[in-house]
Amino acid sequence: MRFSTAIVSAFLAAASLVSAETFTVVVGKDNALVYDPPTVTAKQGDIVEFQFLNKNHTVTQSTFASPCVPKADGVDSGFQSVPAGAQTIPSWSITINNDTAPLWFFCNQGPHCRNGMVFAVNPSAERTFDAFKANAATGGGATAGPNAAPPASPSGSAAAPGGTVAPAANAGAAPGGDNTAAQQAARNSGAFSTKSASVFGLVGAALVGGLLL
Ligand SMILES: *[C@@H]1O[C@H](CO)[C@@H](O)[C@H](O)[C@H]1NC(C)=O
Ligand SMILES: *[C@@H]1O[C@H](CO)[C@@H](O)[C@H](O)[C@H]1NC(C)=O
Repeated sequence: MRFSTAIVSAFLAAASLVSAETFTVVVGKDNALVYDPPTVTAKQGDIVEFQFLNKNHTVTQSTFASPCVPKADGVDSGFQSVPAGAQTIPSWSITINNDTAPLWFFCNQGPHCRNGMVFAVNPSAERTFDAFKANAATGGGATAGPNAAPPASPSGSAAAPGGTVAPAANAGAAPGGDNTAAQQAARNSGAFSTKSASVFGLVGAALVGGLLL
């Protein structure tokens, strides 16, 4: 009896070593425009769970080239509005399909992206989180809406309006304002699967991988 118990214990220990990890990311911690932590390093099968603490934020997939523009066919939590003093909070999860493919996200509310509310899974040495965030601060590829760069000053005719983001990277993506439930649903179709409710009131889950990049 004792022997078999030891075998079971060893098996469970080994299983826990290889089992998927869940990373919790707090959206809007301390009422700030942040995801906390702003990056995670996850492996295949790991889950990143976003918990929306307050206000009305999103977790919207974008691209390294255009941080503030929803990625065509990307995943999106949609707006999660949390009243002050809420007893339960929404959460939304993604499962990592490919840990060598960096994933990029932003908050699609107002100018939150421009103000630094961006997030990455597995940024690389070439595509760093700092570079992604710096690009977001210039408008992140948005050509309209609150994240778009302010117009160049009239005297500065040499200045390029809209920053330095390659326009080609925006092709097919809606430049801001793509916020209706129907549009969210369309973008999420095929990438979304619902999970049973947790104590946080899970609103959805998505599977993301290299094919979505
Ligand atoms: C959340 O923000 C979106 C976009 O600004 C807005 O359309 C929606 O009405 C807001 N939700 C609530 C409950 O205020
Ligand atoms: C994972 O992502 C990398 C980088 O984008 C890509 O080269 C590779 O083909 C992907 N693997 C799979 C199985 O999709």
